[in-house]
Amino acid sequence: MKIFVTGATGVLGRPVVRMLMDDGAEIVALSRSAANRESIVKMGATPVDADLFDVESLSRHITGCGAVLHLATSIPPVSKLRSADALIMNDRIRDAGTKALVEAALASQSVKTFLYPGICFMYADGGARWLAADDAEIRAPSPLRSTLAAERHVAAFDESKTVRRGITLRFGAFYGATSRDSRDMLNMARKGVVLPMAPDDAYRSFIWVDDAATAIHAALENADSGIYDVVEDVPYTQREAIEALARAVRRKRLWRLPRWMLRLALTPELRELVGRSQRVSAKRFKDITGWQPDVRDQTDGWVRVAREVAGA
Ligand SMILES: NC(=O)c1ccc[n+]([C@@H]2O[C@H](COP(=O)([O-])OP(=O)(O)OC[C@H]3O[C@@H](n4cnc5c(N)ncnc54)[C@H](OP(=O)(O)O)[C@@H]3O)[C@@H](O)[C@H]2O)c1
Repeated sequence: MKIFVTGATGVLGRPVVRMLMDDGAEIVALSRSAANRESIVKMGATPVDADLFDVESLSRHITGCGAVLHLATSIPPVSKLRSADALIMNDRIRDAGTKALVEAALASQSVKTFLYPGICFMYADGGARWLAADDAEIRAPSPLRSTLAAERHVAAFDESKTVRRGITLRFGAFYGATSRDSRDMLNMARKGVVLPMAPDDAYRSFIWVDDAATAIHAALENADSGIYDVVEDVPYTQREAIEALARAVRRKRLWRLPRWMLRLALTPELRELVGRSQRVSAKRFKDITGWQPDVRDQTDGWVRVAREVAGA
């Protein structure tokens, strides 16, 4: 199958493209710069120059594809997140970008599946309760409203509920050796320091990046239209996560920076968001698709990050 992908050069995009190509798919990837074009060619995919916000330019390349994966994003580094306009482009990519892609996909007639990687951080604090898309309360402050808008565009792709599929996978936070945030946390931990995002007993749901990619593959094969949570099997509390990170860098404990330091980097809305307890379950997705994560929890995950970063 021919698949149109945005964000092919991203942390998620790279393993997704690799896995789909290994499975025989032909990948057409949106390109917006010479550097990114070169990366796409090296990956063995076909780069196409198109404007994410222009339906006509997208249509030219989407026609003939069987699926569209919208994996592009523009989240600035944590140090820039306090600036008032930090998330404007990201919001545009999620809302206007998804809308334009859906319009182009509908016009093409050939596209039967549209997939968008959402986020499960939008759930209200659930304490120690398990949370899932079918019944969790949504509490989305402004940085998350564009991802809800994207989900609505994806649902609109599939209004008939028969011929086409619109799939949103709400992922936990990505981690892995290719993630800048994971490498930063590992480097700090090697120096014996950690900055906790949430209170000790708050659950935070993660997903190993390569497992997010296998989940996309599984969704393309076996999922119906809908919204699914995709996280690792055993969400850790903040305390358990710090202990796992400490073990991975062979330290007895990490010195915790005070959480008020988050004020230097995050707006009050983002601080409230990252501090929520979200113990999310991927059970429904696993039951429907048969997908299993390779990394079940952060004990395994952080050891792998440490090993892969050391080997790189
Ligand atoms: N990171 C997480 O913890 C997390 C968790 C849950 C869900 N997600 C979702 O997963 C998706 C992928 O995230 P990621 O971490 O892989 O992102 P990433 O590594 O930052 O990659 C971003 C990709 O988007 C492309 N891009 C940036 N601006 C663009 C624009 N204006 N037009 C077209 N393409 C543009 C980039 O291409 P260039 O090479 O040109 O820069 C790059 O390929 C996003 O939808 C994100 O919200 C992420």
